[in-house]
Amino acid sequence: MKLLSIESSCDETAAAVIEDGRKIISSIVATQVEEHKLYGGVVPEIASRRHCEAINGVVSEALTQAETDLSGIDGIAVTFAPGLIGALLVGVNFAKGLSLASGLPLIPVHHLRSHIASNYLAHQDLKPPFLCLVVSGGHSHIVEVLDYTTMKIIGKTRDDAAGEAFDKAARSMGMSYPGGIQLDKVAESGDPTAFKFPHPKVDGSPYDFSFSGLKTAVINQIHNASQKGITLPVNDLSASFRKAVVDCLMDNFIKAAENLGYKKLVLAGGVSANSLLRKRVAEECTNRGWEYYYPPLELCGDNAAMVGSQGYYEFLAGHTASTDLNARATMSIDF
Ligand code: KG4
Ligand code: ZN
Repeated sequence: MKLLSIESSCDETAAAVIEDGRKIISSIVATQVEEHKLYGGVVPEIASRRHCEAINGVVSEALTQAETDLSGIDGIAVTFAPGLIGALLVGVNFAKGLSLASGLPLIPVHHLRSHIASNYLAHQDLKPPFLCLVVSGGHSHIVEVLDYTTMKIIGKTRDDAAGEAFDKAARSMGMSYPGGIQLDKVAESGDPTAFKFPHPKVDGSPYDFSFSGLKTAVINQIHNASQKGITLPVNDLSASFRKAVVDCLMDNFIKAAENLGYKKLVLAGGVSANSLLRKRVAEECTNRGWEYYYPPLELCGDNAAMVGSQGYYEFLAGHTASTDLNARATMSIDF
């Protein structure tokens, strides 16, 4: 079964053709990041306009590279939630139009579920159940993936998402949006023990996260030093901050796996590109004899291939929509 899939939840306009949820036939991503960099973050209105301009060409290119047209497609999967509402609406309306014109089934896909599915494209042997750490720019969850379309959140952030914390810390060190990836690179040459950062815990919720105090701590360090005319070494700051965030994520993730009896751990979302997080999950799981998986770097960020993968499993579960489908800015992964 071949699906055409569409993603427009934030600042990437993407389309793909995916076979049976596991094989990428084509995948096109048009990013707007250079334009949003000028403003230090995603400007929702600009994002919507750029999606409108790009979507036709991106979808056509995905079909062309797959050497097909809609007659060779069996369904249309689209990200409908969560995300920037104006941005989501572009993809949802485009998909609805295609579905109406072609008579193909319309399959709504949750953005975070698709991040998890990016792993199915790279690891043909990976099947639920497993425990997943979903870490993106807007969310940080520990999720029990019970089957392809049944999820249970057991931990989440009380304030900032991990990606957001990385981006804000990076910004305070003068790096441009989205700074998480740059901070990760700079951290490689730094000393992770140079600065002490808090490892916040959430009372009574052992698997929840809190990153806003950590972010404030790094901003305060920089501010206090600059008032004394001192410039702090950015590589040491980055390495210490990265270690603190990854410690918090991994502590809860491993604790949850031990307590719930999972021996198969999976990373998903933009922050799963973080080199220390990948290293740590590999170490912790290898030491315990557990299986671990994370997406290849090209599938960590937003793309439509992952939407086509999750869309296949949503379709098998009977989750299709009619043309009254609407986009939703917020929606829990365990709907
Ligand atoms: O999943 P994603 O592409 O978009 C959302 O759904 O939010 O995640 C983007 C986030 C950004 O905050 C970005 O800075 C972060 O992922 N990110 C990283 C790295 N690469 C991307 N954070 C830390 N280390 C990285 N290597
Ligand atoms: Zn995302």
